[in-house]
Amino acid sequence: MSKPHSYLEPLVVRGRISRPQPKGLPIVNLGFNELPYGPTPKVEQALNETLPRAYAYGGPYCDALRDGLAAANGLEADEIICGNGSEELLDVIARNYARGGDEILISAYGYIQFEMCARRQGARIVKAPEADFVTDVDALLGAITDKTKLLFLANPNNPTGTLLPMAQMQRLVDNVPSHIMVVLDLAYGEFVDGEYCRATHRMTQGRSNVIVTRTFSKAYGLAGLRVGWTHAPKDALPGLYAARGMGSVNAMAQAAAEAALQDMDVVNARVSEVVAERQRLAGVLTQCGLKVLPSETNFLMITTGEADETEALVVHLFDDAGLVVARTRETGLEDWMRFSIGTPAQNDLLLASVARFLDG
Ligand SMILES: Cc1ncc(COP(=O)(O)O)c(C=O)c1O
Repeated sequence: MSKPHSYLEPLVVRGRISRPQPKGLPIVNLGFNELPYGPTPKVEQALNETLPRAYAYGGPYCDALRDGLAAANGLEADEIICGNGSEELLDVIARNYARGGDEILISAYGYIQFEMCARRQGARIVKAPEADFVTDVDALLGAITDKTKLLFLANPNNPTGTLLPMAQMQRLVDNVPSHIMVVLDLAYGEFVDGEYCRATHRMTQGRSNVIVTRTFSKAYGLAGLRVGWTHAPKDALPGLYAARGMGSVNAMAQAAAEAALQDMDVVNARVSEVVAERQRLAGVLTQCGLKVLPSETNFLMITTGEADETEALVVHLFDDAGLVVARTRETGLEDWMRFSIGTPAQNDLLLASVARFLDG
C-alpha cells in the first residue's frame, strides 16, 4: 500500500546520553549552550505578574518588547521583528528568500539549523571550507553562484565557538552581491562584548541585504521562554511577518524579555562570570593536554585528539559525574565534543571528572 511521502529526512543526531545515571547522581545538562542561572529578579516578577493572564495571546507585534529592544540597542522599533527563539526567525528568513533550486551558503561548521532551514525549503546547502575552524571569507565569496540567495553566518559560531574578526566580517558584507541576503546570527554576541554587537548591527546601515538575529536564550538565560529577535531592513519586515505565525511569542515570554532588559546589571555580571569561567576552564583543560578551541561564547569545543577517546570522555563524564555534554555531529568534527560553561561548582565537577578520566 502506498503511503504519504515526507519531503524531509530526519536529522542525523549523534544522540546525547539519555539512560539513567548509574550512580543515581543528579544530571547536569551542559549540552545545550544554556546559561546555568535562574531568572533575574525583574524577570521573575514579570513572570509572576503575567501568570494570571495565561489565557491571553501575546500581542503579535510584541510592541513593548520591540520598543525596549530599540532603546537598548539604538535601533528603530520598526526595524525589529520578534520570534519564537531566533531559530524560528532563521526559518522565517529562509521561507522568505529561498525555495527549491536556490542555494543557501554557510561556513563548513556553521550552526546546524542553517542546514535544516535549507532542507525545509528544498534549497541546496553549500558549505565553504574553514581555516582552522574559523570562517574563511574568501572561501565563502568564492562559493557564491548565480543560485545563491542566502548566506547564514553565526558569529561567534556554534559548535566551534570561534569568532570571525570584525574587519573580516566587514570585508564579507562589502563583497557579497547585494541581491544575496546576508544573515549575521549574533546568538552569542554578548559573550564577545557590546561593541562587537553594535558593530554587527551597523553592518545593516545603507544596505538592504543584511539581517542580524539575536536571542534571549543565551546571555539572558531565557532559552525555555523562546524569544529571539531580528534587526532587518524596514522593507523586509512585511515579508518576514508574512512568513511568521501570529502567536509566535507568548505573553509571558514578552514580559520576561522586556524585564530582562531592565535587569542589565545582573545580566552583565552573569555574562562576565561565564566568560571568566570559560577562560579558567580553557586554561586548565589545555594544561591537562586537551585541545581547546578558542571560544568567544558560553561553551567550549574540546578534543582529546582522537574520536574514540573523546567519545569515551563523553561517556565517562556522564557515568562518573552525571554531566551531559554534546557530541559534535557535523562531518569533520567527529573528534570533538562541546559543553556549556556551568556555575563555578558545576565547572569544578567537570574538571575533577576530566582529571579522573585522564588518570584512569
Ligand atoms: C548560533 C545559534 N543561533 C541560533 C540559535 C537558536 O537559539 P534560540 O532559538 O534559542 O534563540 C542557537 C542555539 O543554540 C545557536 O547556537
